[in-house]
Amino acid sequence: MSRSDEGIEAIGLRRQFKDVEAVAGIDLRVLPGEIYGFLGPNGAGKSTTVHMLTTLLPPSGGRATVAGFDVAKQGSQVRAAIGAALQEAALDPFLTGAEHLRLQASLHGIRGDERKRLIGRLLDRVGLTSAGNRKVRAYSGGMKRRLDLALALIHDPSILFLDEPTTGLDPQSRTALWDEVGRLARDEGVTVFLTTQYLEEADVLADRVGIIDHGRIVAEGTPSQLKAQIGKPTVEVVPESPDELERLRELLRRFGAETAARPGAFAVQLDGHGALPEVVRALDTENLRAAQINLHEPSLDDVFLAKTGRTLEGAEEE
Ligand SMILES: Nc1ncnc2c1ncn2[C@@H]1O[C@H](COP(=O)(O)OP(=O)(O)OP(=O)(O)O)[C@@H](O)[C@H]1O
Ligand SMILES: [Mg+2]
Repeated sequence: MSRSDEGIEAIGLRRQFKDVEAVAGIDLRVLPGEIYGFLGPNGAGKSTTVHMLTTLLPPSGGRATVAGFDVAKQGSQVRAAIGAALQEAALDPFLTGAEHLRLQASLHGIRGDERKRLIGRLLDRVGLTSAGNRKVRAYSGGMKRRLDLALALIHDPSILFLDEPTTGLDPQSRTALWDEVGRLARDEGVTVFLTTQYLEEADVLADRVGIIDHGRIVAEGTPSQLKAQIGKPTVEVVPESPDELERLRELLRRFGAETAARPGAFAVQLDGHGALPEVVRALDTENLRAAQINLHEPSLDDVFLAKTGRTLEGAEEE
């Protein structure tokens, strides 16, 4: 079910800042009612893309349509169709949540009883009913992100842009926000374009994921398609004696290519010449004792590693 016949389309979209090519020509298509996860590390070009798609920043090249309107030429039609919760939220610490919503509603020409009902409904939807009359300076990070979401929903947009909506949130607030975004897409047919640095967020929430790095989309597909491209699981073995690491390395290399492992362990990505049972048998035959054997199924981070040579987990910790 969807309310807009058109989702989002970008063709060769580019943005240059002096000598930095923040977005280096991206093509993407988000179908109506779909949740699209734009996954990438710091500085990848996620916010710049969102700013162009929400008409806040003119593209340096290429083109994009949102809800069927050209972002460069039909800005006001695009803005009428979309809601956006940006990364640098512009909340006033001295206003309450309800006051923010009242202002935003008035900007959209919603007044009187209709406005009152709408504010009550939105506060309830994002779980801020009891905090609605508190000033924003007393809100936690999670409460601010939820207020952002309510503000983005005020004019009932058919397309929603969320720029890193859960960065810095505790796991509970994160899950609550995922639930609400999932519900909006599923029950109300809202198209969602969401940026994130979190693998799990893209994996759990997005119907389709685009991985962006240095302004370029390096992989795109459903989370399971992307993981299936990698296909093979990784086996990591910690030898009982650290002296055996060299012998372990020789043995494991017969099963696949070396991949990142924790200190004191060795890991390979299984290349199809045998699975875990064969590895265990070989360890046994060669009398090489393992303190631990771990099997990792491929994750979106493996996809990121395969495409960029770096891991996203590492970038996240910065
Ligand atoms: N207004 C600007 N002027 C100059 N350079 C900019 C500007 N905005 C972004 N950049 C540069 O463009 C690149 C992409 O930045 P962008 O904010 O789009 O990344 P991001 O993926 O949103 O990162 P993060 O996860 O940290 O929010 C970076 O190298 C950044 O320094
Ligand atoms: Mg950003």
